[in-house]
Amino acid sequence: MTGAASHKTFRTAIVPAAGLGTRFLPTTKAVPKELLPVVDTPGIELVADEAAQAGASRMIVVTSPGKESVVSYFQRQPELEATLERKGKTALLEKVRRAPGLLDVEVAIQEEALGLGHAVAQAEPNLTDDDSAVAVLLPDDLVLPVGVLSRMADVRARQGGSVLCAFDIPKEQISPYGVFDVSETDEQDVKRVHGMVEKPAPEDAPSTFAAAGRYLLDRAVFDALRRITPGSGGELQLTDAVALLIKEGHPVHIVVHRGGRHDLGNPGGFLRAAVDFALEDPDYGPALRSWLAERIETDRS
Ligand code: UTP
Repeated sequence: MTGAASHKTFRTAIVPAAGLGTRFLPTTKAVPKELLPVVDTPGIELVADEAAQAGASRMIVVTSPGKESVVSYFQRQPELEATLERKGKTALLEKVRRAPGLLDVEVAIQEEALGLGHAVAQAEPNLTDDDSAVAVLLPDDLVLPVGVLSRMADVRARQGGSVLCAFDIPKEQISPYGVFDVSETDEQDVKRVHGMVEKPAPEDAPSTFAAAGRYLLDRAVFDALRRITPGSGGELQLTDAVALLIKEGHPVHIVVHRGGRHDLGNPGGFLRAAVDFALEDPDYGPALRSWLAERIETDRS
């Protein structure tokens, strides 16, 4: 399905960016992790671009007091643009204009980091009658190649309800994830979800399909978010709201994404993403590749 077709399924993307970013301390004392650059572009712009490509026309960024720069990043900078234009720096000008031109950006504030479910709930007042479903994209989770959201929109158009993204993870590596209990549908890589188990031991995992940071949620999720109580870590969990919807018979499916993924939320994952993207970059890739090869060779000797 094309972006234009999925546009009918959802037009609003919610991007929660109000977390404390503790895994990235001390940097996150002053710099939101969502703005850390993957080569030269913040993760949140990559995710906004993904949402726009899937047909979203607006993005509600949920942020917290003190993290307003996450939203400022999407505002135009006329003076900077004029300076770059005067100096003939057209490539840079294009980069500077890219984020504000992707989609309309609105802000919702989460006063306290009370969990992902709570963060998503803060975006509800921004919704209109047209928003029968919303996409939620976690800005610290890069799902590659982009395109899974359009497939998820396609599944919602046919099956109704909510659609989540999953990765097929080797059983012995499944423990850190939320794992789906599923049954097959007649479509390859689309499964019906019956439940979810958070962080199971490999022998208790109901499948090898683990949750990723992409959700296409029926608006009913906001009602469910009002009815759940704090779960693990005293936080309102988005997956608890989805579990409630499943329990009440609301259809929930997963699309199994056969691709790669980077977790930008911790230094190790972030570095991998930066190296991965830099190696593909025409400006930085060739020099980085030969330096890395030399560096690893020195390590061996
Ligand atoms: P994470 O758990 O990865 O982010 O949440 P975190 O809580 O900031 O990170 P750590 O665990 O302290 O290192 C996934 C996304 O959800 C947002 C985060 O900003 C991140 O983009 N989030 C999380 C909120 O907006 N509010 C919350 O209360 C929790």
